[in-house]
Amino acid sequence: MIASDLFDRVTETVAEFLGADLSRQTVFLTTNTTSALDLASYAMSDREGVVLTTVLEHHSNDLPHRRRGETAMVGMTEDGALDMEDLKAKLDAQPVKLVAVTAASNVTGWMPPIHEIARLAHAKGAKILVDGAQILAHHHVNLRPVDDPGHIDFFAAAGHKAYAPFGSAFLVAPQGFMDGLEPYLPGGGTVLAVTEDEVVWTHGADRHLGGTPNIPGAIAMAKALDFLRDVGLDAIRHHEIELTRIALNELRAMDGVEVYGPADPDARLGVVSFNIDGVHHDLAAAILNNEAAIATRNGCFCAHPYLHRLLRMGDVTELVATLKSGKDAELPGAVRVSIGIFNTPEEVEYLLRWVRRIRDRQWAGHYDLDKRDYCKPVFFEFQGVRGQSGSSGKETSRV
Ligand SMILES: Cc1ncc(COP(=O)(O)O)c(C=O)c1O
Repeated sequence: MIASDLFDRVTETVAEFLGADLSRQTVFLTTNTTSALDLASYAMSDREGVVLTTVLEHHSNDLPHRRRGETAMVGMTEDGALDMEDLKAKLDAQPVKLVAVTAASNVTGWMPPIHEIARLAHAKGAKILVDGAQILAHHHVNLRPVDDPGHIDFFAAAGHKAYAPFGSAFLVAPQGFMDGLEPYLPGGGTVLAVTEDEVVWTHGADRHLGGTPNIPGAIAMAKALDFLRDVGLDAIRHHEIELTRIALNELRAMDGVEVYGPADPDARLGVVSFNIDGVHHDLAAAILNNEAAIATRNGCFCAHPYLHRLLRMGDVTELVATLKSGKDAELPGAVRVSIGIFNTPEEVEYLLRWVRRIRDRQWAGHYDLDKRDYCKPVFFEFQGVRGQSGSSGKETSRV
């Protein structure tokens, strides 16, 4: 009973955190942002019209729509921001039922003006779905009252990008609208009554997601949101933007380093993606991890179309054809550092020192450059301690 009571209060915590109104909106608890976005995509699937996505989207806010019907993709400006003129043109050019847009890119941290986009979408009779995975723990979000033209209809995010354990997420969605749909995943918990030939579906948060929920995960997510609220989103933003400003400006000014996305730190969250000239992103990330104990992510960050454009790759037909044929190919990408509330200015300086060292080819480990798996150095040194990992027995090179 205690667990059930805590669980039942999770939706209230989420609603309060985002300024949602539980008399008109429902919070659905899911396992990750992807499943929350897919639920929204499902909810809109019977409507007429196109889903407008953007080139900034994580695949999770693109592929669910592609599999259900026609989509069109809004492009970016030269520096990697959303092209608002293209958005307006595409809204004018066709009947649009949904605009699916991220609140912040997980590649560049750039924040599209979601309320302005909501106004434009609503003026055309479309709804807006906002992917809040990246923004949730880093910037204040208010969904606004449902009769405000700039309000957000659907908002998805996950606890695991907000300091909670993995496996708990949510979708905020319009209540009456969701209650009018057939359940997304019918099963235990989604009904009021079942006879041998009839079903009476329940309403609200239980209608669409059958099965046992992740009870401890959801409670932990609510705890994480309480924690963020207690620290204060404004304080968090203030701290993170100061560190981002240093990281972004210094990396941008560094010879031999290319940083992606708009230059203005105030338009971004603390996400900085970059490449070091002549050093594969796998290798740079492995050195940062193994030798500097700096955890980064590298690759395309589940946002391939955006990366292709940011890296100015042009036509990628050949790469796609190679992969389709089952052959191996050199995959593009970048290294991403993410700044959080626990980071300090000293850590940013330390990161910058290490990026310079890598640029100047001053790392200690020996990495097998023939195998793609750079992440396992044959040996490496960290703070004077020599480490060793499973040797491939192959010739290794140091570049
Ligand atoms: C912007 C964005 N959207 C969606 C996702 C997918 O989230 P999840 O792993 O919770 O499905 C991520 C994951 O990192 C993300 O950064």
